[in-house]
Amino acid sequence: MRAASLNYRDLMIARGSYPGSREEPVIPLSDGAGEVDAVGEGVQRFEPGDRVVNTFSQVPPDGPPSAGRKALGSPLDGTLAEQAVFHESGLIHTPDGLSREEAATLLCAGQTAWHALFGAGAPLQPGQTLLTLGTGGVSSFALLFGAAAGAHVIVTSSSDDKFNRARSLGADETINYERTPDWHEAVLGLTNGVGADCVVEVGGVGTPERSFQAVAPEGKIGLIGVLSDGENPNPHLLMQHSGHLHGIYVGTINQPLDSFQAMNAAIDVNALQPVVDRTFSLDEVSEAYRALEEAEHFGKIVVTI
Ligand SMILES: NC(=O)c1ccc[n+]([C@@H]2O[C@H](COP(=O)([O-])OP(=O)(O)OC[C@H]3O[C@@H](n4cnc5c(N)ncnc54)[C@H](OP(=O)(O)O)[C@@H]3O)[C@@H](O)[C@H]2O)c1
Repeated sequence: MRAASLNYRDLMIARGSYPGSREEPVIPLSDGAGEVDAVGEGVQRFEPGDRVVNTFSQVPPDGPPSAGRKALGSPLDGTLAEQAVFHESGLIHTPDGLSREEAATLLCAGQTAWHALFGAGAPLQPGQTLLTLGTGGVSSFALLFGAAAGAHVIVTSSSDDKFNRARSLGADETINYERTPDWHEAVLGLTNGVGADCVVEVGGVGTPERSFQAVAPEGKIGLIGVLSDGENPNPHLLMQHSGHLHGIYVGTINQPLDSFQAMNAAIDVNALQPVVDRTFSLDEVSEAYRALEEAEHFGKIVVTI
């Protein structure tokens, strides 16, 4: 392994608040990038020296591919390791042009954003409006993908300091959700009262009700995150907008490689660079977790191995 990235999920696993977390010690993190050191008999897709990233859910390293898949970082041992063994169905080649740190961010955050925009429901189209909440890992990928696809991108953040960065990455509009708690109304104001065609909903219990009101008629919401607490949303607000709500769990459940390959092709063709905010060394891992907890990052936090 050459690098591994942190996701909010890893913080929840460390706190014991992630649903179904393994109770006994586990090697953390689900996302990694590395090089193939050696291959077993019958392996066809890889050879030593190949640069690879891993998928989120994995079959046991010795297969068979039809064995039940489980997530890395809990319950399976994860990617914060110098060496790891994977079944070949759990790896994919790293897109050319990405550093090991950038490659290590692709999996959970990248795949989740990709699936919300292009996999779940009607794919986001050029000229449509995309709304991303916050500037963390998932949202930074959604911003990159949305801008590359020609969407009009609205970014919310609690920090004005992050808006310049958002604009330099392709955001068209920005809303400070702390200064503007009724940010759904600001979204309607920015879209002639229509709303966003696609909403990347990473906020959690406190925010979907606003997303239901910010979505355009027949638009879609990718229900992804659990960052905040609050009241349960009123589902009728979604109904009144004829909105489509999609539960997102990373990429597609059945064909993880197809979705991953499509995303990597888009990264390659558009020369996109995942947003790496900070890197830490292996012996600074607790500081990396603290940085994620402080939430001052824009994009991803990565550990170099
Ligand atoms: N379902 C899935 O498959 C899946 C996959 C990946 C992630 N997730 C979930 O998605 C969420 C984001 O994950 P991540 O790894 O991208 O997290 P992250 O990198 O830690 O992102 C944190 C950022 O989210 C923003 N944020 C926090 N509370 C918010 C709120 N109430 N409203 C709007 N934005 C808020 C903040 O941005 P600002 O600093 O700009 O305000 C914060 O910096 C987490 O809940 C995670 O568990 C789910």
